[in-house]
Amino acid sequence: MISTEKFYFYCGMFRTIKNLLALFTGSPPAASRTDLPETLKLIFSRRSCRSFASGDISPEDIEAILDAGRFAPSTVNLQTWSFITFDRPQWQQTFERPIPFKGAYAVVICADQNRLSELFSDFAETPAINMSFAIFNAGIAAMNMNLAAEALGIQSIMLSETGRTGLLDTAFLVEKLGLPEGVLPLTTLVLGRSTLKLPGIPPRQPRAAVVMPQRYQPECKDMLRDWFDQMFIGFKIGHPLSNFDKQLAFYRKKMLEAEQTVRRYFGR
Ligand SMILES: Cc1cc2nc3c(=O)[nH]c(=O)nc-3n(C[C@H](O)[C@H](O)[C@H](O)COP(=O)(O)O)c2cc1C
Repeated sequence: MISTEKFYFYCGMFRTIKNLLALFTGSPPAASRTDLPETLKLIFSRRSCRSFASGDISPEDIEAILDAGRFAPSTVNLQTWSFITFDRPQWQQTFERPIPFKGAYAVVICADQNRLSELFSDFAETPAINMSFAIFNAGIAAMNMNLAAEALGIQSIMLSETGRTGLLDTAFLVEKLGLPEGVLPLTTLVLGRSTLKLPGIPPRQPRAAVVMPQRYQPECKDMLRDWFDQMFIGFKIGHPLSNFDKQLAFYRKKMLEAEQTVRRYFGR
């Protein structure tokens, strides 16, 4: 007979091992189907890459990726985005450091209300709605570019923090890139070549917690325990020397600073 204490200890161990395994082998259940079209295979195998090799990307491929962004759908076809592009020397010149993760090319993706500012003046009393649409549209364009890159065999990652590359460094990027009023830098899409085989897909929340037939299901919160454990284990493996609480404090401070700047874009 084992004691209650030991029982809970072994249960905890079992969960940790199960979640560790899930972390390294994770893939969406739908990916195991054999009849998937290429586009879906691409979506299920896409990964964020954090280590690029020295290879370059051809101008034709860059053009195709940027056009995939331009041809994304948008609210009333307003195309409320701007893409500020950099090759390695241009990034170095602007930021005095290499592209994060030694990428070959970078695109700062902005929600842009400036280009259509005359049109938006007709909607002056709805700044939060206007900006939300602009952000949503730019996000879709970003994802179109991300998938276009994958289809061309080019790896990528979107960044909003690492290397001062997005929303959390809005004030910095506004100054560095000369962004006018109404242009909010959301994320940098870093593109490059990688020869690394990436480990399992980072844990996804369970389908039942996310997909809600007919009505919102508040009770889904309980389903997040394994996902949260896997995220935590992933953090520990990825940052063995980091202190989780210190990291949280760091992000909280950075986000509070960014909050003050970004609020202006929502008219508050
Ligand atoms: C808008 C956006 C911003 C992100 N910012 C960062 C970042 O600053 N640093 C980073 O290492 N990863 C960043 N990521 C990558 C996410 O961590 C990654 O997408 C997530 O862990 C899931 O992994 P996967 O893309 O390989 O499926 C960002 C992703 C998105 C979509």
